Amino acid sequence: MTAFPVTRAVLERLEGTPDPRLREVMSSLVRHLHAFAIDVGLTQEEWLAGIGFLTETGKTCDATRQEFVLLSDTLGLSTLVDDLANAARDEATEATILGPFHVPGAPFRDPGASIVLDDAEGEALLVSGTVTGVGGEPVAGAVVDVWQAGPDGHYDVQDAEQPEHNFRGRFRTDTQGRYGFATLRPVSYPIPDDGPAGRLLRATGRHPWRPAHIHVMVTAEGYRTLTTAVFDARDTHIGSDAVFGVKESLARTFALGPDGLLHLEEHFRLRPAP
Ligand code: BEZ
Ligand code: FE
Repeated sequence: MTAFPVTRAVLERLEGTPDPRLREVMSSLVRHLHAFAIDVGLTQEEWLAGIGFLTETGKTCDATRQEFVLLSDTLGLSTLVDDLANAARDEATEATILGPFHVPGAPFRDPGASIVLDDAEGEALLVSGTVTGVGGEPVAGAVVDVWQAGPDGHYDVQDAEQPEHNFRGRFRTDTQGRYGFATLRPVSYPIPDDGPAGRLLRATGRHPWRPAHIHVMVTAEGYRTLTTAVFDARDTHIGSDAVFGVKESLARTFALGPDGLLHLEEHFRLRPAP
């Protein structure tokens, strides 16, 4: 690939950056950005279209919508950064992206309580299991924070019809590390696709769907916080998640119990805090 003098000039100018990490990150960014432009033979019209796209992405952001994160999600960058942070996972439960619909401070609910606060209809699903460390020791008093979209495919924060904290709640593990809650079988839903990230999906022939899932964040003293999710292995979108968050180890088949209800037994294994 032909090098151009401007690349070296920019890299030399960055050599005076006082913060060594900023110097490393910026120099690498410039090298890759220039290499990309050379690789595709970027035209002035395309450069301008790219600037327009990023400008519009910024204008789509507000207090509740983060279009840049959505763009990062759909390009797989969020999952890559997550994987980099969780690479040495040993026997721990695999992590996946948080997504934009987590609400910090959801209400604590009693063991086994339902997170369904309205009269939403769907298949009843009972989720139960344990929180342990990677060594298998039960973690008492861990907080299991769960959230999912309702049967209409919307989270409570996207839908004025749903009561606050519908399909979300926090549960504390008992002395043996056990937790449990009741919900409805999650459904697949499209990520918000009415902005620039959605336009890019369509332009590249991609769909906006996430396979059905329940988000889980587990926090406990002395352990690393686990942000993960469980996915419905039978979902038609299981192999083509719009945001690349599915991990094979997190795909589950919900089993019908003798009580006629769906059951999911899920054991979360935490890494010790660094
Ligand atoms: C979610 O699963 O809630 C989600 C993740 C990334 C983008 C949009 C939604
Ligand atoms: Fe989600």
